[in-house]
Amino acid sequence: MAPRPDSDLSTTTEEVVVLDFGGQYSQLIARRVRECGVFSELLPHHVGLEEIKRRRPKGVILSGGPASVYEEGAPPLPPELLELGVPVLGICYGMQLLARALGGEIERAEVGEFGRSQLTITRKGRLLAGTPSEQTCWMSHRDTVFSPPPGFTALGSSTASPVAAFESTERGIYGIQFHPEVVHTPYGQQVLTNFLSDVCGCERTWSATSVIEDQIERIRAQVGDGRAICGLSGGVDSSVAALLVHRAIGDRLTCVFVDHGLMRKNEGAQVVEAFRDHFQVPLVAVDASDRFLARLKGITDPEEKRKRIGAEFIRVFEEEAAKLDDVNYLVQGTLYSDVIESGGSTGAATIKSHHNVGGLPDDLEFELVEPLRALFKDEVRAVGAELGLPERLVWRQPFPGPGLAIRIVGGEATRERLDILREADAILQDEIRQAGLYRELWQSFCVLPDIRTVGVQGDVRTYGNVIAIRAVTSDDAMTADWARLPYDLLERIAARMIGEIRSVGRVVLDITSKPPGTIEWE
Ligand code: XMP
Repeated sequence: MAPRPDSDLSTTTEEVVVLDFGGQYSQLIARRVRECGVFSELLPHHVGLEEIKRRRPKGVILSGGPASVYEEGAPPLPPELLELGVPVLGICYGMQLLARALGGEIERAEVGEFGRSQLTITRKGRLLAGTPSEQTCWMSHRDTVFSPPPGFTALGSSTASPVAAFESTERGIYGIQFHPEVVHTPYGQQVLTNFLSDVCGCERTWSATSVIEDQIERIRAQVGDGRAICGLSGGVDSSVAALLVHRAIGDRLTCVFVDHGLMRKNEGAQVVEAFRDHFQVPLVAVDASDRFLARLKGITDPEEKRKRIGAEFIRVFEEEAAKLDDVNYLVQGTLYSDVIESGGSTGAATIKSHHNVGGLPDDLEFELVEPLRALFKDEVRAVGAELGLPERLVWRQPFPGPGLAIRIVGGEATRERLDILREADAILQDEIRQAGLYRELWQSFCVLPDIRTVGVQGDVRTYGNVIAIRAVTSDDAMTADWARLPYDLLERIAARMIGEIRSVGRVVLDITSKPPGTIEWE
């Protein structure tokens, strides 16, 4: 597949560039800037001045990072960045880089400052205007600025940071030791707004939905009078990508939905209903469950399941694509986080290897259309809602490509087991939605291990299946915490599963976080 040559995510809107020095929260900075109404891209710190200049940014933000400015090989301040003539805000490591380059006094403190901290503001200056003199903030650093560079004003301190913020309005250079992007810094968004509005002069008119018309124009320009195909998975990304392309080129888009029989209850039908019936998008829906089940016969190893499902998916998709004439574009729901993970905004996106199941090989003769390349997940949801995508699709939790097959753990994914798991899962989803918790959870699902346990029901000894409940909160699936579901909800779920599904005799709850566990069981 040819990568899209145009990696320029936004040329028409004002932009603030975030340079990534490897901080945990770098993506979050870009997201917060966007929430303030300013388009923002996260670029690697070594991207080079030309790439930065090309975007004609209204400002540059330097992220935090794990290094010490004194370490050998620590990422340096990009040469000539400060001569660009645009305001610069350094956060944490970014601030230390500025302090060091401009002659401030900075030292490695004996004790670091990690977590919540109390900030005392002595001068609000431009950066901290409108925030209280005493406030809490989130810190995560060891190197500490002891005095600001000559000509700079120190704005405040915390217990362990004599200079927790500084600025030089003449030079347009600002630094904060704390992290304004995390929720534990309650005035963080105000500080970012000050920088974006008052310092950079941004108009703050960007929103995810404001790019819809722009994206539609771009798709038209790219595809011309060509034809495109899009594989729908039932997830929000491919759904929104398909809708945008349909808006742009109408019936020259054909969607293909491969139902592998490993979906959740009714989810396949919901996709068909939304796309074919409601949006009237040309849709080929293939019921390929027999083929997939045949390929999974006797297979218990999870990686082998993944491989077989992936290979079969490609086969079915290619067969369907071959039936369509003159298709030369493939629509994919690549997100901005995929673009960042693959090393910045240039080049094609690569998808994490184990997420490749349900993905397509790279030797297909299609040019990619990726209308969501500039957007974060929550922005895609906003676009989906704006385009009228049903609420259930907009807010659908992530679902793995190999579907329920990898949730039948240690055993073969037979139709019978899939049905049990699907019923249990439907009860879980139903109860979680009714409790109003669905959106708060990153994922909630059931697992069916290949074991039986003894029980007693109505004086009769039973020997039934076990259903494990897995519910996690997470921001990005890299780490996750097990969700503290209310006991009465858990009780209702267990009672319903055992009462409504004959073969289920026991329900257990997974209380493992990630790490050390993973979200899926296999
Ligand atoms: P783990 O289990 O590695 O999962 O903590 C992290 C996220 O990835 C999803 N996942 C998959 N998604 N194909 C997919 O498309 C897969 O083979 C696969 N395995 C795990 C998982 O649901 C979670 O969101």
